[in-house]
Amino acid sequence: MHTFKAIEFSKNQLTLIDQRALPLEETYLTCKTLEDVTFAIKDMVVRGAPAIGATAAYGMVIGAVQNSDMTLDALREHMDKIKVALDQSRPTAVNLQWATERMVKHGQQYKGNQLSEFIEFLKGEADAIYYEDAEFCKAIGEHGNTLIESNDVILTHCNTGALATVAYGTALGVIREAHKTGKNISVYADETRPRQQGAKLTAWELMKEEIPATLIVDSAAATLIRDGKINKIIVGADRIASNGDTANKIGTFMLSVIAKQYDVPFYVAAPTSTIDYEIQNGDAIEIELRSEDEVTLIGEERIAPKGIAVYNPAFDVTPCENITAIVTERGVVYPPFGKNLKRIRPEE
Ligand code: MRU
Repeated sequence: MHTFKAIEFSKNQLTLIDQRALPLEETYLTCKTLEDVTFAIKDMVVRGAPAIGATAAYGMVIGAVQNSDMTLDALREHMDKIKVALDQSRPTAVNLQWATERMVKHGQQYKGNQLSEFIEFLKGEADAIYYEDAEFCKAIGEHGNTLIESNDVILTHCNTGALATVAYGTALGVIREAHKTGKNISVYADETRPRQQGAKLTAWELMKEEIPATLIVDSAAATLIRDGKINKIIVGADRIASNGDTANKIGTFMLSVIAKQYDVPFYVAAPTSTIDYEIQNGDAIEIELRSEDEVTLIGEERIAPKGIAVYNPAFDVTPCENITAIVTERGVVYPPFGKNLKRIRPEE
């Protein structure tokens, strides 16, 4: 079992495992202000779509506490500004806006006239988002496990584990569940340039769980797939459009093309909070561009000549036709995704 909590809220403070320092150091960062929370999301102290969502929900509470010298009416109005500050911290993972939207809507339902009670009311919703995510990831693991057979060799990209969610994980949750239920599986983990979530975080989680795993550089995946060494691919998602097009960590699209070429099933695992029913397809997904330092430096050390132009998109979009199935907490969804994702849409 994983022995850490990536996110913990207590006494109006949010404690996050500092994912920038893993696996070398297990340190924690405490967020006491809204600015601390937006920094933690931007700088990737916390990352992974569902984890960002839960963090943002508590960020709304922290932002409210920070402004508790306002009148209740003024604070209620101010909640939209807190939401905007959080939403701007990272653009691609829809879980962030989904969580802040849910918090704002919940706040609007408060009927009392006590500011402290209003804050408690908000905290109740943030807790609901937090505990639901853990529960949904557990369900994703169980549904996804029906797709896994003993002796499967599974490739995964980026980190989708207990670090990227409140608990268990999504794609890594499926792998965790398959291993826990006694299936003899092994995993190839992509290093995941440039932030190396695979090398630093997925490898760490897999080793903690004693799941047989091998780390590869991203560009080794094609050869392994062609040589028949991988028989399933499972990844997470940052935003899934209504038609099933899926934004995930840069490199996912490339994997999906190779998987299709060699007839390897390509699964996406994500909670329904990652589905953006407001958009028709992946063209509407904003792809975050990150600092060139992520490409030109390794750690503190420069590896590219100063002045070289750099293009560093953090995500790409896998077209729905490259996806075999999407595993959600509501079950495994097969194409046509447009119709079938609608069927599992949670009621507002
Ligand atoms: O930039 P990151 O590390 O936040 O990107 C994370 C991913 O792309 C994950 O695959 C995705 O958020 C799903 S996490 C369960």
